[in-house]
Amino acid sequence: MTRFASLAIAALFAAAAFPVVAQTPQFAKPDDAIKFRQDTLKELQKNFKRVADMAGGRDPFDAKVAEESAQRAAELIKQPWVAFGPGTEGGKAKPEIWREQDKFKDLAGKAEVEVAKLAVAAKTGNLDTIKASLGAAGASCKACHDSYRNR
Ligand code: HEC
Repeated sequence: MTRFASLAIAALFAAAAFPVVAQTPQFAKPDDAIKFRQDTLKELQKNFKRVADMAGGRDPFDAKVAEESAQRAAELIKQPWVAFGPGTEGGKAKPEIWREQDKFKDLAGKAEVEVAKLAVAAKTGNLDTIKASLGAAGASCKACHDSYRNR
């Protein structure tokens, strides 16, 4: 066997040994999924609020902290949705989520876009630019909560 062929085969085996599990958290039981999405959303809220408090004048503006927090929020908002899989009804999530998956995913996608825009705005280091994109980002959270979260 040529050296190249044996390397190629080794690579194939390596790929087979590590399926996609790395990016997709696997939940042993529904409670694990509920806890994961709630923890992720709480952490999201913490980072989002840090930026919002600066924009609202409740905290002094620190461009670096705002940039890091918005960036972290943009990463976090991609993460809770895998934890709304079949059989994970519960928490404060309304059962409609599992009947209206398309609409739920659509709202999740829109929020990802708005929070990504906030992260871009925060990179400028300009408070007015941040303020300008904060409203739409906050509204994208609310749009989903109004339909799909129990209070
Ligand atoms: C696509 C729908 C959707 C979007 C978008 C969304 N959320 Fe939520 N959020 C939910 C649902 C559903 C729950 C309840 C989860 C549960 O209890 O299982 C929730 C719960 C929460 C909680 C409570 C977590 C806890 O258990 O204490 C916070 C905080 C939160 N969201 C913040 C945010 C913020 C901030 C944004 C926007 C940047 C956002 N969410 C965007 C659907 C959404």
